[in-house]
Amino acid sequence: MKRIVILISGRGSNMQAVLAANLNAQIAAVISNNPTARGLQVAREARVDTKVVNHRDFPDRTSFDRSLADTIAAYSPDLIVLAGFMRILTEEFIRRFSGRIMNIHPSLLPAFPGLDTHRRAIEEGVKLHGCTVHFVTPALDHGPIVIQAAVPVLPDDDEDRLAARVLEQEHAVYTQAIRWFLDDRLAIEGNRVHLSADCRYSGAMISPLPA
Ligand code: GRF
Repeated sequence: MKRIVILISGRGSNMQAVLAANLNAQIAAVISNNPTARGLQVAREARVDTKVVNHRDFPDRTSFDRSLADTIAAYSPDLIVLAGFMRILTEEFIRRFSGRIMNIHPSLLPAFPGLDTHRRAIEEGVKLHGCTVHFVTPALDHGPIVIQAAVPVLPDDDEDRLAARVLEQEHAVYTQAIRWFLDDRLAIEGNRVHLSADCRYSGAMISPLPA
């Protein structure tokens, strides 16, 4: 059975969706850089091993990442799932687990990398927004895309309403992407992910539509 380590920094709703998904994998550990991350308690209640590697205990990013990498490596994971993990990882860290780190980002990448994606989407007046699951490369919020979900931006949306609509999709597509990884259905070719057979493609998503 493949082994997954999940990294979180806060609420952990994506982590919770992964835990609830009954995957054919062992969730070996949930690790946080933030000792007060709400998701840690949820993981403990689900009887998953938890660890804290607090970035504040280290003089620099390199030493933190080395310690984090060693903590992760002790669990011999096949896949590292970044689920609202709010630290930028060093190239050394990413190369050590190359092709085995997935992230979820709350925008349709390559639009809106970085923070405050929902606010920026509203400000830019985009009509479709969404989320992206991608493999992690040293370039922030880049890397081969596995799956994306688009949602409409509605005229009366504020950041919270839009975030909630996107989050619901995050939970669905992240577990889907992980299932494909566990089933060995994903092949990274350059900057593209090839998904082996048996998937459907939805039609155009147009928003708004005439009444
Ligand atoms: C999610 O929107 C995720 O896409 C982003 O941070 C948020 C984390 O939420 N990277 P949660 O901790 O999974 O609830």
